[in-house]
Amino acid sequence: MIQKYLYGVPFDTESVVAPIPASQGEPPVGTIKTSEFGFCFACLLAEGDRVYGLGEANRGINKRGFVYVSDNVDDGLHTENKQRMYAAHNFIVISGQQNLGLFFDYPARIRFDIGFTRRDWLEVTCERADLALYVITGDSACDVVKQFRAIIGRSYIPPKFAFGFGQSRYGYKTQADFEEVVAKHRQAHIPLDMVYMDIDYMDHYKDFTVNPENFPDFSGFVSKMKEQGVRLVPIIDAGVKEEAGYSVCNEGKEKGYFCKRADGTDFEGTVWPGWSHFPDVLNPEARAWFGSQYRALTDCGIEGFWNDMNEPALFYSPERLKAFFESMDELSRKDNIVQDEFFGKVVGGALGLMNAPEDYASFYHDVDGQRVRHDRVHNLYGGNMTRAAGEAFARLRPGRRTLLYSRSSFIGSHRYGGIWLGDNASTWAQLLANIQMMPNVQLCGFLYTGADLCGFSYDTTPDLALRWLEFGLFTPLMRNHATDGSRMQEYYRFADMLPALRKMLRLRYALLPYLYSTFMKAALEDTSYFRPLGFDFPADPDAREVQDQLLLGEGVMVAPVYTQNASGRHVYLPEAMKLYRIRSVDDYDTELLPAGHHYVRCALDEVLLFIRPGHAVPVARPASCTAQLDDTALTLWACPDENGSARCRMYTDDGETSDFAAPEHWKVLESN
Ligand code: GLC
Repeated sequence: MIQKYLYGVPFDTESVVAPIPASQGEPPVGTIKTSEFGFCFACLLAEGDRVYGLGEANRGINKRGFVYVSDNVDDGLHTENKQRMYAAHNFIVISGQQNLGLFFDYPARIRFDIGFTRRDWLEVTCERADLALYVITGDSACDVVKQFRAIIGRSYIPPKFAFGFGQSRYGYKTQADFEEVVAKHRQAHIPLDMVYMDIDYMDHYKDFTVNPENFPDFSGFVSKMKEQGVRLVPIIDAGVKEEAGYSVCNEGKEKGYFCKRADGTDFEGTVWPGWSHFPDVLNPEARAWFGSQYRALTDCGIEGFWNDMNEPALFYSPERLKAFFESMDELSRKDNIVQDEFFGKVVGGALGLMNAPEDYASFYHDVDGQRVRHDRVHNLYGGNMTRAAGEAFARLRPGRRTLLYSRSSFIGSHRYGGIWLGDNASTWAQLLANIQMMPNVQLCGFLYTGADLCGFSYDTTPDLALRWLEFGLFTPLMRNHATDGSRMQEYYRFADMLPALRKMLRLRYALLPYLYSTFMKAALEDTSYFRPLGFDFPADPDAREVQDQLLLGEGVMVAPVYTQNASGRHVYLPEAMKLYRIRSVDDYDTELLPAGHHYVRCALDEVLLFIRPGHAVPVARPASCTAQLDDTALTLWACPDENGSARCRMYTDDGETSDFAAPEHWKVLESN
């Protein structure tokens, strides 16, 4: 059952699409306090309650014991103390004696104290008491999530090529750079479907332009790559460069489509292109205009994009930079400065220029003729940039699927695109964070998700690259991405690991019939792709505690190794399962393991896949790209039930069009 409670005058975020009448009175759980100072929801947490959700957030699968803040920020250092990330996913599921979902439909900063101040206490607070609260009760955590997914609308479905492998790096610049990357993958027999174009493909970081010297015939290049089974996927940033004569800038200014300061002038902030304007994607007209700019690239044959810097990230604004320089000027005239001045004014002042709350409070959106201050709707910005693109693709490429994912998001934008988990680092802790974030992000509706494999910042190591791939090969979005200046980490660079890396990438393609079917089931039937063990085994205290194994669709459990120099790991099996210890699609051993605790060996070049009783996994022959994958010649890996049979429901389609409903997409495969 879903009940909706309204407080004050909520901003219409459009997160929820189902019409739900508002209930009167108090919600069935917790206490609510509203005042001119804000909103507070509080309730007791029982001893055994787990709290899932919050999507892209720090720490474990169970969020209990910390504070999390939804206030989208460009911060690439995801240490355990961080409370905010790139996204606002304000949905939690409390699972224990009862199963309860709470969705706080609020567009700005909101704070979740989940057993931080007091272990048995949940408190959710925000500055203004203008929001909708949805309370969902259900028989199980799965049931609560399914009901939630039904009211927020169907999750975005990418084209099938997006389930292949994509190589990316901040630093590829010229056509020759991209050609070399593709050629080296092919020479190394590493499958490849996409190469991502980071900001250097643009002309001076101007959105919707291509550097004419580096790409003399861009359309020709796009089709040449496509002939080789590779899609080029360009980045689009939120900030539009301020430059006289740049048509997107000129037109945006003329039509009044950029966010404005209080005095009506166009707000400016600095990001990669230098001084930039920010399209007012909360204004439907401006959103349609910005979306239609993607045409410059779809007309060249581009079929996919990633949207970035859309929290929106602000390196600094002219106002704040001026104030900082003035304060430095004063300090520079002193003979000596004290520590407080050094740390507070010099260091703090410089760092405080970035993503400054004062800047977010200094510009406005035009929403249906109403002027809305940005900080009051801050968390909706990135998601509406995704929406701008998603809505435009429906016009520009009707009936075709377009790859799209974003860095910043809110629940609602899951209908238009996927997300990647932002700038992580090449550390083992971030591999675990990737594992733990996946189920929570997906239960908030973002099914097409993945992290930068190998890690974005710092230098990766060959074993981390391999171990991360051994998890990444199961994530819907599978991309190796790194920052400029870090160690080169294309998989073909790691000579000693190359045979194993190649086999793991080929394994991904072999498993695509299962992974794609699981994804489509999750999208079309509001079921899960990844989920915590506690969802299926709520009565099993050991299963409830597991934080580093995931159920994957109906029939599979994964248990990745995420520590360095480990050649095995502890695995908990809530039921008997068949272990496939896989070195390659043709080289694996199997063992039927009873329910219980096990130490399972897993050498560096092996991956563990567990199949649940009665289930089968269809396995194809690996291919060099998704277009060449033959999903008619399948082998079944299976764990028979007590009657000796195992089955799986498989989904196939053309991978390009949006006709998902046809019953002939489904077939049941059985092994006995
Ligand atoms: C941001 C993105 C990262 C990208 C970089 C340069 O940090 O998160 O993925 O490589 O900008 O565009």
